Order: sequence, then structure tokens, then C-alpha cells
Amino acid sequence: MRLISAFISCLLICTFLLIGCSVKENEPENPVENEEAPIVEEKGAEAEAPEEMPEETVVTAPEEKPEEKPEEIPEEKPVAEYVAVEGFSLSFNSVTLSVGDKRMPIVSVTPSNATNKGESWISSDESVARVDRLGNITAIAEGTCTVTVTSTDNKDVYSTVNVTVVPQPDLTYIDGILIVNKTYPLPNTYAPGWETEASGPLWEMISAAKAEGINLWMTSGYRSYYDQEYIYNGYVARDGQAEADTYSARPGHSEHQTGLAYDLNDLASNFGETAEGKWVAENCHKYGFIVRYPKEKEAITGYIYEPWHIRYLGVEKATEVYESGLCLEEFLGITSVYAE
Ligand code: DAL
Ligand code: ZN
Repeated sequence: MRLISAFISCLLICTFLLIGCSVKENEPENPVENEEAPIVEEKGAEAEAPEEMPEETVVTAPEEKPEEKPEEIPEEKPVAEYVAVEGFSLSFNSVTLSVGDKRMPIVSVTPSNATNKGESWISSDESVARVDRLGNITAIAEGTCTVTVTSTDNKDVYSTVNVTVVPQPDLTYIDGILIVNKTYPLPNTYAPGWETEASGPLWEMISAAKAEGINLWMTSGYRSYYDQEYIYNGYVARDGQAEADTYSARPGHSEHQTGLAYDLNDLASNFGETAEGKWVAENCHKYGFIVRYPKEKEAITGYIYEPWHIRYLGVEKATEVYESGLCLEEFLGITSVYAE
């Protein structure tokens, strides 16, 4: 009996143990725990990486820094000496603009090594002309005002531009020719673009030259008022206004704005001596063009000799001008001079 009761006790104990194990095995099947587990593992892996990096940087960085700094600082300090601004001068002190025109005087600061070359611009009457922080003057409406640039280093250092704003110019035609030179401007709104009555004849001329073994190409053609302004301002900044005015037109005064003028090949004065330059001088009138700024006519046209710059007048007028041996100003009896 004792054996039987011991056997039954053993059976009961084993049964309880088996039930307990099967309950524990079911617990991990909870889906929430199964999804979170990998995330915990990844976080653990990420968290381990930073633990290694500081060990490397901490070892190398402190070794180099403390030795270099104390030696360099005392040597650099004397370089930062303050140099006061003494004067401001402008590339022009008076300007006449049409409504909508923009101009920017170039500022020269003395001494050139002044520490603070900062500028502050202001217009005396923003209803006539506005000026931005860089000195771009924009004509708003007819009238006069002054634009002043003051040094931010010293309020007693300043320079002033007298601004006169006039209405937009009208187009000037003489003998049916649209005139553009230093005397006769175009309004900034005049923007015919590239396709004009000159485009076809230009390519006709280039093809005809090619057939004769003469290689011509167009280097530049139509330029808007604002393209010209950008180019001209660049030349003024480089060479000064007086020199720039001998070879580059002020905005509103370039024939390129008409879409009727082109520059050919290399813009070099010896282009006139090349086979290409000679061909252009002798033949372009047959296609309606003239060489607009001939040699020895600088005082009349207002521009240096430009054997590469041609202007479309139509075959009849271009041939008359060519045969006259005169420049266009002489031919029409007009001037080419800026008002100021
Ligand atoms: N180079 C000529 C004069 C122009 O700028 O239109
Ligand atoms: Zn040109």
C-alpha cells in the first residue's frame, strides 16, 4: 500500500509540474512582446556604438590642443589695427535718368585700407528716385532730388549725387532710320528681342561669306536695356566711366537694344586688317549693314573704331552710307554726345 500511495503521490507531483511548464511556454506568444523584442535589440546595438567612439576621440584630441594655442595668439593681435575712413568719392555726382532707369555710382573709399568701408544710402525724395543698400538709384517720377552715401564709420564722410528724372524718351527716326547714339537714347521699355528685320539678312551675309571662304560668326546681337546696364557698369567698375564711355554705350544708348546691330568674330581692333574684317567692310552694305563706328570717326560717332560692329539700315540706305564714305552721324547731320 505504501508503494502504491508513493506511486500515486509521484504521479500527482509530476502532473502539477507538467501543467506549470506548459503555462510558462505559452506566455511569450503574446504578439506585442514578439514585435517589440527586435526593436529593443536594435536600440541596444545603436546604444553600444557611441560607447566605443568617445574612447577613441578622448584619447587623441587632448594630446594636440594644449600645446599649440598659447604660442599663436600673441602674434596675431597686432595685425588688427583700426584705420579710419577719411573720404568717399563717386564715379559721378550728377545724373539724368528716364523714369524706370537705374544707375549705380561706384564708390571709392580713402584710404583704401580703411577698416570699415560700410556705406549707408538715402534719397532726399523717394517719390522722385529711390536708392537701395548697394547704391542702385531707380528713377521713379519726373523731378529732382539728391542721393547721399554716408560712411557707417564716420557720419561726416559722405558724397552726394544730384538726380534729375525726365520722362521716357520717344524713339527718334531720321530718314526712316531708328537713331541710337549718345545724343538719342531708347526708352528702357523698348525691347524688340532677337527676331527683327536684320536677322534674315545677317544669316544671308554669313552664308554668302562662307561660300567665298570667309568665316564669319555672330559674337553678340540683341541686348536689353538691362543687359547693357550690367555690361556697362562692369566696364565702369574696371576702367572708370570716362574710358568706358569710349567703347561701351550707357544703358538706353546702345544700338544692340534695337536688335538691329551685331558684333562679328573677335572684338579686336585688328579685325579690320583680317580677311574677314576686310570682307565685312567691303560687302556688308550688300546685305543692308554698315560698319557703324569707322576708323578716324571717333570724335563724331563718340566711340572708338569697332570694325566688328555692324548696324542694319536696309540695302538702299546702307549702300548710300557706304558710298558716301561718311559715318552715320555725318550722313544724317546729327551729333552723338551725352547731355552730361
Ligand atoms: N560698343 C557699342 C558702342 C555698344 O556698347 O553699343
Ligand atoms: Zn557692338
